Amino acid sequence: MSGRRPQEPAIGVFDSGVGGLTVFRRIAEALPGEHLCYLGDTARVPYGTKSADTVIRYARSCAAHLQVRGVKMLVVACNTASAYALDVLSAELPVPVIGVVAPGARAAVSRTRTGRVGVIGTPGTVASGAYVRAIAALNPAIRVYSQACPLFVPLVEDGWTTGSVPEAVAARYLDKLAAKGVDTLVLGCTHYPLLRGVIANVMGPGVRLVDSAKETAKAVVETLRDRRMLRTDTRPGRREFYASDAPETFARVGARMLGGRTPLTQVEWVDV
Ligand code: DGL
Repeated sequence: MSGRRPQEPAIGVFDSGVGGLTVFRRIAEALPGEHLCYLGDTARVPYGTKSADTVIRYARSCAAHLQVRGVKMLVVACNTASAYALDVLSAELPVPVIGVVAPGARAAVSRTRTGRVGVIGTPGTVASGAYVRAIAALNPAIRVYSQACPLFVPLVEDGWTTGSVPEAVAARYLDKLAAKGVDTLVLGCTHYPLLRGVIANVMGPGVRLVDSAKETAKAVVETLRDRRMLRTDTRPGRREFYASDAPETFARVGARMLGGRTPLTQVEWVDV
């Protein structure tokens, strides 16, 4: 018999690809002592342009994959997967499931002063109406204006986060939203925090930007604390990264998502 002790369970985080590392990064900053296990479904990215049925099927297989690894909580870092599949996953899994939509909606509701909120996301997230419903459930008087920004994801993945090209694309998507007089804008997609500067320029100084990644990390901390599930050991937690397509591409693009500070040296290919 081997004397190896079973590994302590990690917080499982999944996304359609590398974008969810913006959420992973915030969780890692907030909870350095927790074990974190990230799965990027890079073989099937993007989710943002796919149908609800397909996204739910993909999300289920990612969740099942992480569950086999014995996670104690599941974080759906992908806005599109949260928008379409959170209810299904919450009903099916034996562990707490946290998505990015509810935390972002809560932050927007608490920050708006004018009651006019903008939401930007993938075509799927916007079509699902998930943010609109989540905000209405908290305060039905708030008016929500949504806009899909499909070109933002490829721009970020290619590293085009500043300069005339993203500025022109952002102006095209956001001018109308800015004209609606929203005072709060939810960055409802994993990639959009990297375009924060460009988005802020178009929206103007009076508009607060809600970073769903940051808000989700807060929700993870609160949920683990409330359920007394925080790891008590003060040593740094382990970090595991899995990708369903080329691990070296995941590592290269993913490093940008982590702010370039954390090298992604060990990424394992997995078949989801
Ligand atoms: N992760 C997705 C989201 O937050 C963006 C990339 C994709 O379309 O898969 O909605």
